[in-house]
Amino acid sequence: MRNQKILLTGATGYIASHTWLALLESGFDVVGVDNFANSSPEVLNRLQRLSGQAPVFEKADVGDAAALDAVFAAHKPAAVVHFAAFKAVGESTTMPLAYYRNNIGGLINTCETMRRHGCSRMVFSSSATVYGAPAPTDLPLREDAALSAVNPYGATKLMGETILRDLGAAEPDWQTACLRYFNPVGAHESGLIGEDPRGIPNNLMPYVAQVAVGRRAELQVFGDDYDTPDGTGVRDYIHVMDLAEGHVAALRFLLNGRESITANLGTGRGYSVLDLVRAYSAASGRPIPYRIAPRRTGDAAACWADASLANEKLGWSARHDLVRMCEDSWRWQSMNPQGFEKS
Ligand SMILES: NC(=O)c1ccc[n+]([C@@H]2O[C@H](COP(=O)([O-])OP(=O)(O)OC[C@H]3O[C@@H](n4cnc5c(N)ncnc54)[C@H](O)[C@@H]3O)[C@@H](O)[C@H]2O)c1
Repeated sequence: MRNQKILLTGATGYIASHTWLALLESGFDVVGVDNFANSSPEVLNRLQRLSGQAPVFEKADVGDAAALDAVFAAHKPAAVVHFAAFKAVGESTTMPLAYYRNNIGGLINTCETMRRHGCSRMVFSSSATVYGAPAPTDLPLREDAALSAVNPYGATKLMGETILRDLGAAEPDWQTACLRYFNPVGAHESGLIGEDPRGIPNNLMPYVAQVAVGRRAELQVFGDDYDTPDGTGVRDYIHVMDLAEGHVAALRFLLNGRESITANLGTGRGYSVLDLVRAYSAASGRPIPYRIAPRRTGDAAACWADASLANEKLGWSARHDLVRMCEDSWRWQSMNPQGFEKS
């Protein structure tokens, strides 16, 4: 694998920036592209500090065929990890066209550019959202569970998987890995990179982190009357560095073999909202005031992965527990209370 070059789209985003480091540590070369729609150029400075080398980066929109052509001509990547997408579920319901254009248009444009340059291996950022609102009897979720889209964002992930499956069926030289992430949280252990949402965080841990650091007064817990051990929603939280290692494993699988794969990346274990609040409070030494609010429509009571396929096929499994997820998130949040731009 040494010196094979991997193109990361959405490279300065939360998950991609951590994957970038994991790839460098595994001996890959990396070229990143991003249009900074939801990330900061400061990420590149942090990556330089962490890796001791200047990141190879091109500012480009994955919807811009000419810009991507230039990146492929200059860098000749052996494979692509396609992270670039919009990801806010609520926003996708109010701006569906923007989501379809960016997530589906961007994926098609990236695949067409790859094809023009003889590159046919892609890891695609899918999501547990493709399981819709799973019933308790579906848990733990296996890859062959029923799929459905419950919002436009979810529809773009389901359609993305379909596009890659159809492409592989039509053109057998394509090998793709659709990785269904569960709930990525935490940060690199250095505290130099982490999740830096713009505006009000959509996900639980960054919200809790901002309460702990004093940026927000209290957390709203949506529903405490679910059929779960403490009544609050249960999710499969996965440390972002474990997720990053999952991408390294998937790239090795694609580059060494002739098979495509669709696999869950989760820990196989669920924690409730209140488990997470308690663990974060312990890690940060700060109180996390919270208030119970009504359930949100569309939220499942519980969702966690059967992660055995990734273990069998990719030789990967998650290593970090909830305590470590909270400790690393808190290090990032307390070292960068206002995120990348203002720290
Ligand atoms: N974070 C999660 O909870 C989660 C869960 C499941 C799946 N995913 C998927 O993983 C991927 C990465 O998510 P993330 O949490 O790191 O999000 P993120 O917003 O931090 O990263 C996405 C990056 O893509 C960039 N981008 C968006 N549109 C672009 C375009 N047209 N051209 C170039 N760059 C563009 C953004 O600027 C951003 O840096 C996304 O595809 C997301 O849907 C995320």
